[in-house]
Amino acid sequence: MENSDKPLVKAMRGHDVAPSKMFAEFMKNGWSPTPLSGIEQAEVISHLDDRRQKLSAAFTKLRLVIPSGTAKQRSNDTDYQYRPHTAFAYYTGVQGVEANPDAVFVMEPNGSGHTPILFINPRSTRDTAAFYTDAKYGELWVGRRFTTSEASERYGIEVRELSELKKFLKGKKAATLHGFDEFVDSLVNEHPRDAELVEYVSVARLIKDQYEINEMQKAVDVTHRGFNDVIRALPAAIATVRGERVVEAAFFGRARIEGNDLGYNTIAASGSHACVLHWNRNDGAVRSGDLLLLDAGVEIDSYYTADITRTLPISGKFTPAQRALYMLVYEAQKAGIAAVKPGEKFLSINKASHTVLAQGLIDMGIINMSLEEVMDPAVGLHKRWTLHGVSHMLGMDVHDCAQARAEQYREGILEVGMCLTVEPGLYIQPDDELFPAEYRGIGIRIEDDVVVTEDGCLNLSQHIPHHPDEIEAWMASLR
Ligand code: GLY
Ligand code: MN
Ligand code: MN
Repeated sequence: MENSDKPLVKAMRGHDVAPSKMFAEFMKNGWSPTPLSGIEQAEVISHLDDRRQKLSAAFTKLRLVIPSGTAKQRSNDTDYQYRPHTAFAYYTGVQGVEANPDAVFVMEPNGSGHTPILFINPRSTRDTAAFYTDAKYGELWVGRRFTTSEASERYGIEVRELSELKKFLKGKKAATLHGFDEFVDSLVNEHPRDAELVEYVSVARLIKDQYEINEMQKAVDVTHRGFNDVIRALPAAIATVRGERVVEAAFFGRARIEGNDLGYNTIAASGSHACVLHWNRNDGAVRSGDLLLLDAGVEIDSYYTADITRTLPISGKFTPAQRALYMLVYEAQKAGIAAVKPGEKFLSINKASHTVLAQGLIDMGIINMSLEEVMDPAVGLHKRWTLHGVSHMLGMDVHDCAQARAEQYREGILEVGMCLTVEPGLYIQPDDELFPAEYRGIGIRIEDDVVVTEDGCLNLSQHIPHHPDEIEAWMASLR
C-alpha cells in the first residue's frame, strides 16, 4: 500500500528538513528486486488446522477476530519489545521475530465452517516512500517483513493487507478479544459471546499435544543452560555492587541468544530478598554465605516458556540451617510432584506440599498445633511462611490458561497433557521472631515444570539438580 502521502519530515527521525521531491524520486529507483525464496513452514503449522477446527466448531457461523495487539509505548517514540497476544500466535503460527504489531486474525464463517484469514502490514517495498519514511514499519528502519504472498506461503492460510480490514469488517457482527487493539475495538462492536471467546482461547491450551510438550522441553533445556550461565557468573556477581543484576543479565543473555525472550521478569533474589515473593528489582548484593533464589524462564521462538526456580548457596555449600530448611521444601516438592496424576484434583498438589511444610513447621516447634488443625482452611497458619500457590498451568503464557473457569482449572481435575509447575517454598522474613535467628532471612523455593501422563507425570526439569548434594556438585562442576 502506497504510503507516500505521510508527511516525510515527521516520520524521518533525526531529520529536521523535509526531503526534497528530487530525493523522493531518487529513492524510488536503482534497487534490485529482493524476493524471498524457499520459504518454509514452521513445524507448528501442521497442528493449526486441528486447533482452528475446534475453534470453528465452538463458534459455528460466528465471525471471530483475534488481534495480535499493538506495540506498547515505553517512552516518547520508544516501544517495549513486541510480543503478540498468545491466542493470536496459537491460531496463526506466527512466532519469534516474525511477529509484528497490529496484525489481525479473522475466522470468517463460510457456510460449513470458517476460513482463516490473516491481515498484516506487509513489507514496504522500495517503490513506496514508507520504506524510508515510516519509522514504525518501514524496512529501512525496522527491517524486512513478509509480503502477503510470502506470509501466505509461510503460514499456509489466506493473507491480506491490514488496510483492507476496515472495509472487510464494516457493519459485520463478530466476537473479539477487546482491549488489545484500539483499531479493532473501533471496528467491532461488543458481542454477547465476547467473554466466551476470551475464555475459550485460554482453555483451548489446557491440554498440550506432543508437539507442545516437545517445545516445553526445549524451553526447559535452554533455561537449564541459563542457570548454568548464572552459576558461572557468580564470582562476578559477588564482585559487583548490584550483583543481582549480574545474575539477571547472565540469564537474560541466554534467553535472547537461544530464545525469543524471558517468559517473565527474572527474580534474582539474594539473601533475604528471597522473602519478597516477586523480587525483580534485582539491585541487591550477592554475598558468599547467603542463598540465591533464582526464578527464571526462557521463552523460545514458539513462545513456550519454562518457569524454573532453584535456590543456590552462593558459596557453593549450604550451611546447616539453609540445608535443613531446604530439605523441608525438597520433601514438600516431592510430595507435590507425587500428587500429579490424571484424575487427581488440581488442588491436591497444593495440599500435598503444604501438608509436608506444615508438618515440618510443627516438628521444628514453630507451630504448636496438630497437623489437622493447621491444615483446616479456617486456620492455615503455616501460610505465614508460604503464601503463594504451589502450582499453575504453564505453556505459551507463564500463567497459562488464566481465563479458565474455576471448575475447569483451579477446582478441576488433572488430565493427561496438562503442563504445570510444582513450586513449594518457605520464606522466613528477616524480622520474623517466631523463628530462631539462624533461619531468619532465608527464602527457598524449588520449582519444576511437569506434564501429566497416563501414570503420573513427566518432570521436564528433572535433570536440573534438586537435592542439596546434587546442587553442590553442579555448582562445583561449573566453577
Ligand atoms: N515465576 C512466576 C511464578 O513462578 O509463578
Ligand atoms: Mn511458577
Ligand atoms: Mn517461577
